[in-house]
Amino acid sequence: MLTLNINNKDFEVDVPNDMPLLWVFRDVLGLTGTKFGCGAGLCGACTVHLDGVAARSCMTSASKAVGKKILTIEAISGNEVGHRVQQAWLELDVVQCGYCQPGQIMQAASLLTQKKNPSDAEIDSAMSGNLCRCGTYPRIRAAIKQAAKSV
Ligand code: FES
Ligand code: FES
Repeated sequence: MLTLNINNKDFEVDVPNDMPLLWVFRDVLGLTGTKFGCGAGLCGACTVHLDGVAARSCMTSASKAVGKKILTIEAISGNEVGHRVQQAWLELDVVQCGYCQPGQIMQAASLLTQKKNPSDAEIDSAMSGNLCRCGTYPRIRAAIKQAAKSV
């Protein structure tokens, strides 16, 4: 039995230590906002925060997250920076199919938490592991810049 603090609430989960967090969210707890893309750390669809820093939940075992604060897309609006990122996403109509977007928003919120006013190069570098097959990259970058103005 592991205790995981997810979105400021403790959950007792009876899972193997090496089960990826993504599986715990989706299959055990019903938190399906975090998406499965590649399952191999290559697409960013499964991005969440661990102690405020972006992490790939498909590559993070449940036991590694014990004692950390886990934040998922379901609660990002309660985070000041995350809320501003979501607002910018809405204002600029970033989303196309939407599948990659929870991961994009979590990655962007992590970036702006660590760097209040990132340059284009810093945005591109921070977001480079988050793939979007709909090609929303220009709107993602514009929304990050808009959110940065209000952070
Ligand atoms: S599903 Fe985790 S990086 Fe692709
Ligand atoms: S919005 Fe469709 S994959 Fe990114």
